[in-house]
Amino acid sequence: MRLDVIAAGMFDFDRKIDRANTGSLKWNKYAGKDILPLWVADMDFASAPAIVDAIKARADHGIAGYTLPYAEVEQAALDYLSRVHGYEAQREWLTWLPGLVPALNVVSRAFGEPGDAVMTCTPVYPPFLSAPVWQGKELITSPLKLEDDRWTFDFDDMEAKVTPRTRVFILCSPHNPVGRVYTRKELERLAEFCLRHNLILCSDEIHCDLLFGESKHIVTATLSKEIEQRTITLMAPSKTYNVPGLCCSYAVIANPKLKAQFALAARGMITEVNCFGYAACAAAYNEGEPWRKELMAYLTANRDTLYQFLDTKVPEIKARPMEATYLAWLNIEGLRALGCENPHKLFEDFGLGLSRGSDYGDDNFVRLNFGCTRATLNEALVRMEKAVASLR
Ligand SMILES: Cc1ncc(COP(=O)(O)O)c(C=O)c1O
Repeated sequence: MRLDVIAAGMFDFDRKIDRANTGSLKWNKYAGKDILPLWVADMDFASAPAIVDAIKARADHGIAGYTLPYAEVEQAALDYLSRVHGYEAQREWLTWLPGLVPALNVVSRAFGEPGDAVMTCTPVYPPFLSAPVWQGKELITSPLKLEDDRWTFDFDDMEAKVTPRTRVFILCSPHNPVGRVYTRKELERLAEFCLRHNLILCSDEIHCDLLFGESKHIVTATLSKEIEQRTITLMAPSKTYNVPGLCCSYAVIANPKLKAQFALAARGMITEVNCFGYAACAAAYNEGEPWRKELMAYLTANRDTLYQFLDTKVPEIKARPMEATYLAWLNIEGLRALGCENPHKLFEDFGLGLSRGSDYGDDNFVRLNFGCTRATLNEALVRMEKAVASLR
């Protein structure tokens, strides 16, 4: 092995992998165009070798039949929840799912009558906004507010908007796209709000292992036994280990009544999980930690590269400190001040494909996915600088 590779780490996050002709949602969007896709949340890195090996071993068995959750994967998830997040969950609390987007829809459908309401805080991952509406519920949104340059819940606004017909609060923790890792104090206040208004708390924690620096994720359900009884925790190894195409996620529901209501709403629509997804999930949780640690070092350097670039080259675009995820939430009001009506389109014209802020509930932002090689990020930043320079 090359010594410089050993010094740099075990895994090569700089390796450029051609994703053309793999049906990649991320790369197909701009196929045939010179536009770098830094939008949907998957990364351009090969997953951990232990995960790739586990998938190969499962394929070598030769039979990919309908697959139930089995002891190894269940134990891997329970051990992971306990070891990493101090959550002592039980096997019977797990519901395995082919994705968390279906879970957001099932939750929206499961609780309350048509016309009852689901509340969430914006900006947020778009399915949080579509699921309640698609499932016949009223959607109540409360914008996060800035406090000391950090996004947080606006409890006054939430109190003003919650109605007697509100049944569910959907929380994104850590929060995509603002990158917040909520503190115990913030979560406790949210839990108290849900208890007082008798809301089911659906806590989507898919980004909980993509933390920067000293940030510590708190599983909402661990706040108290009382809050655990009304919480549906949504988890998956897919964001952290870059295996979203394997469709293996799960809900943790301690309250048997809520679990039964969830199962009833999912009946006939949520099918078995992909057998390769289970294999990947067990490998990720049991063997993926060395890879995840190096991933976070690489992502930290990408984040710092982006932030330094914004500070020094395009101060018109502002980013607030982010504590988690590889998704940067960039304020582009400064570009509007320079006369640019549609910054998202401007970036595409200069070869950079970002996510539109309006899809998350705030048109003053775009979202940039820096889960890519440093070379791709640097090229993206060159393009961004040219785009902004064209307005000055
Ligand atoms: C907060 C959040 N929940 C869920 C998902 C998607 O989950 P899945 O691929 O399991 O449907 C994403 C993807 O970016 C996300 O950011």
